[in-house]
Amino acid sequence: MSLGTWRAAAERAESVLRSNIVEVTVGDKRLRHAIPSPAFYVHQWFWDSCCHAMGLAHIGPEDAVDELRSLVAGQWRNGQIGAITYNPAEYSYYPKAECWDTAEFSAAGIVAAGIAQPPLLAISVERVAAQLDVVQREAFLAEILPSVVSYHEYLRRHRDPEESGLLTMIHPWESGCDNSPRWDRSLATISVDDVPTQVIEDVDKNRSDTVTGKTSHRPNQDDYYRYMYLVHLYNELHWDVDTIVATSPFAIKDILFNSAWVRANESLARLTNDAVYEEWAEQGRAGLHKTWDAERRQFCDVDVSNGKWEPIHESTIAMFTPLWCAAAEGEVLDGLLARLSDPEEFWPECPVPTTGLNSSKFDLLRYWRGPTWPITNTILIEGLLRTGETSERARLLGNQLLASTLDMIADHGFSEYYQPTGTSEAGALLGFGRFSWSAALFLHLFHSFASEN
Ligand code: DGY
Repeated sequence: MSLGTWRAAAERAESVLRSNIVEVTVGDKRLRHAIPSPAFYVHQWFWDSCCHAMGLAHIGPEDAVDELRSLVAGQWRNGQIGAITYNPAEYSYYPKAECWDTAEFSAAGIVAAGIAQPPLLAISVERVAAQLDVVQREAFLAEILPSVVSYHEYLRRHRDPEESGLLTMIHPWESGCDNSPRWDRSLATISVDDVPTQVIEDVDKNRSDTVTGKTSHRPNQDDYYRYMYLVHLYNELHWDVDTIVATSPFAIKDILFNSAWVRANESLARLTNDAVYEEWAEQGRAGLHKTWDAERRQFCDVDVSNGKWEPIHESTIAMFTPLWCAAAEGEVLDGLLARLSDPEEFWPECPVPTTGLNSSKFDLLRYWRGPTWPITNTILIEGLLRTGETSERARLLGNQLLASTLDMIADHGFSEYYQPTGTSEAGALLGFGRFSWSAALFLHLFHSFASEN
């Protein structure tokens, strides 16, 4: 496709992203940010917002600053920033603010989910800062860096009791890849029969994604009971994160989450000139290396619940994400690139499916069990181009993936995610429409790597 077509799509992306910006009043604070999609996701989501800011940085850096300012406004006193920050004037989305017993933790009286999401904040801050003039940049960094530092300190202090260099996540929603097959085995240890009736009834009565959206695109009902059971359990534990990490049936070292963590520490080291974050990044890289399975040629998530250390071997896109933080070279890199470029596994018409095409768990339409997502493609494009400085093969794949991702979004519009096999009878538009991060990541990729200026 031509540069002209991408440029026209960038104009459409700008209009979608801008039209999703809302102004929210919480107490005496007025916050501005883009909601992910007006059809369903009407609050502020953590990793979505980090991506929105990366796109907005190119078309309105002040809007990008507002987006991140709003994101950190609900930060807890212990440094945690929630996966969802709630707009008190919106009631349609479930789980509602009342589902989280967390109101007491934010200094600003803002209700946020008690769980985290892949820690892209420092990466986003670095990119936004790069688009500001010197005066704006200094002011922005002086305002936001204390929050970013305290967020990293929170993660480091509470999420790695084994001192493995890798953080533990405590809920499938923390991974951002809610129903990835990677979580099946751990979730199966929670029997739906043991989920309290009040949780089951609450989900049956209030779950709204399958009403607003299509059941075939969304996580199945048993998994949704388990998601809300974990929220219930953590409410009961009063969000005492050390106890949760030590005792939860769901505690996993997620490869994608940790690749983001390492990559974010690289950004924070540059932003603060503090070498400690480079050390944390290096410890994370060493931790990632320990999960490499040479026979299967993959990095593996690790189930660490209740003192276990059990690798998870599902074939998913997460195995490639260490490319983003320079954690693959030599034979490891060769093994990864061979799997990534295999058309039978990860390289169909619209790469990269979130679950391998030849996995028994692959599902063409269901959220993170197959479809191609702009966020995971962005991580791989950046990882491949970075690795491409020393590997011609990675550089070629990175450029191909950049072009196919821009084409995919320009062709099919700004939906939540895309069909890896291209268009078909089932339609290429998946999930919810007018999706902010698909628009924002299009702008980020186009302006950072594809436009001539
Ligand atoms: C959802 O509702 O699908 C979200 O991923 C939960 O944060």
